[in-house]
Amino acid sequence: MTKPGLLIVGELPAWDIEALSERFDLHLYYAAEDKAALLARGRDSIRAISTKGEVGADAALMDALPKVEIIACYGVGYDLIDVEAAKARGIRVTNAPDVLTEEVADMAIGLLLAAARRIPAGDAWVRDGSWKTKGSMPLTTRVWGKRIGIVGLGRIGSAIARRCEAFRMPVSYSARARKHGVSYQWYPTPAAMAPHVDILMVSAAGGAETRGLVDRAAIEALPEGAMVCNVARGTVVDEAALLDALRSRRIAAAGLDVFLNEPDIHPDFATFDHVVLQPHAASGTVETRKAMGKLMRDNLEAQMDGKPLLTPVA
Ligand code: 8YV
Repeated sequence: MTKPGLLIVGELPAWDIEALSERFDLHLYYAAEDKAALLARGRDSIRAISTKGEVGADAALMDALPKVEIIACYGVGYDLIDVEAAKARGIRVTNAPDVLTEEVADMAIGLLLAAARRIPAGDAWVRDGSWKTKGSMPLTTRVWGKRIGIVGLGRIGSAIARRCEAFRMPVSYSARARKHGVSYQWYPTPAAMAPHVDILMVSAAGGAETRGLVDRAAIEALPEGAMVCNVARGTVVDEAALLDALRSRRIAAAGLDVFLNEPDIHPDFATFDHVVLQPHAASGTVETRKAMGKLMRDNLEAQMDGKPLLTPVA
């Protein structure tokens, strides 16, 4: 029996490629020099697409592959998949939630500690001999006990909040509506919350609805010396306003995993010594990436077997 075709839009680990190749005839879009030719070759045989949060899938791709039944996303965020276009074409869409929640929350706390306590600078201080020649490094800023405001109290935001409780940090959150059964302080917008927190943690889903949600008003309403952390999407924050606040040092420290225009991010980020940067790596452990790949594969196989999808979003 011929295997169904699978278009792999974003690069995947070898273990996923190996497992997928047992069930599918793979078309490696990311590696193809002539992408149009690859799509033309697969037009009648490709029944599924695997993509990633930061790559997505647009209507033109769907139109080039009329036999596609499912787009499976290797990640929880599917903001770059044109879900309406998929629905209009009868294409199912799945994501990979839950399996990465705790991992991303770990990175959020790690970034916050690294930025506030200047952990990379301390590491450099030891390595370059400054400890011997200059003595102690400059003092840093406390994290525990500080007031944190979480933008978007979904799965990941809630996991971050649980960690913050262990750090004895009063937790607030901003969301369009108050969450039932949640005792943290609620604010309707990041701008309303900002004056009441020392740390702004961004963990809202990306997409059109949250574009610029952390706007200039929110950034400017943060108290002098506040810290910012973003493990969501670059689009959620007004990046120009964030850069201004970093340049003026009104924001004393930032930990950023996501940016506009990744990986070609604004060059000024790399010039700040009070910012810790990550290459969109919050879910990037072997354990979690294996779990994400497995969930994505299970969704693809369920569709091929006519079984219910595990984590559909459309
Ligand atoms: C990426 C993410 O998808 O899940 C998400 O929404 O942003 C990440 O986990 C990951 O880098 C895989 O490409």
